[in-house]
Amino acid sequence: MCEHDQKGVTLWFTGLPCSGKSAVADRVAEILKDRGYRVERLDGDIVRQSLTRDLGFSREDRNENIRRVTFVAKLLTRNGVFVLTSFISPYRDIRAHAREEIGSFLEVYTKCPLDACIQRDIKGMYKKAMEGKIKEFTGVSDPYEEPLNPEVLLETDKETLEESTANVLVKLKELGYLE
Ligand code: ADX
Repeated sequence: MCEHDQKGVTLWFTGLPCSGKSAVADRVAEILKDRGYRVERLDGDIVRQSLTRDLGFSREDRNENIRRVTFVAKLLTRNGVFVLTSFISPYRDIRAHAREEIGSFLEVYTKCPLDACIQRDIKGMYKKAMEGKIKEFTGVSDPYEEPLNPEVLLETDKETLEESTANVLVKLKELGYLE
């Protein structure tokens, strides 16, 4: 049972690999759950093992990945869930499509200079990409189109995880999604 009269919304995290999308989305989700809200997470690494496991990283496949996720996020959002998605989602046009479809939608840009992402390289993928062992790797050999007007801008190289998390929660509160 949900303790709140909750209006659904999708928080669409986008950014380079290792820019902090999943870390911040996980933390925000944890806090919202603790406060009694209905929350669902859709994360690239997990969704790509199931719903979109047939897809690769061409522009077409990335956009198909996002289209399927958009469909799921839309259903959840209209049923009063807070949906936190974390996908690179590098192309502006498909993010605009997601926004249009879902309606109740906030774009959260985890902005982080490429150098800092490469420093983190949590899964060692930048290294492999720079050695040419992974093709079409975002930031190295594939494009990332920055959001022009995200509702939330997180500078994850300058803020702590808790600060970034607080910035997302402040925006949700400001827009009336939290009691
Ligand atoms: S998206 O571009 O379609 O939105 P998504 O977020 O689902 O990407 O998946 C990104 C994850 O796939 C990365 O975290 C990384 O672990 C893995 N990955 C494997 N190959 C690539 C690649 N060429 N470019 C980006 N990420 C890749």
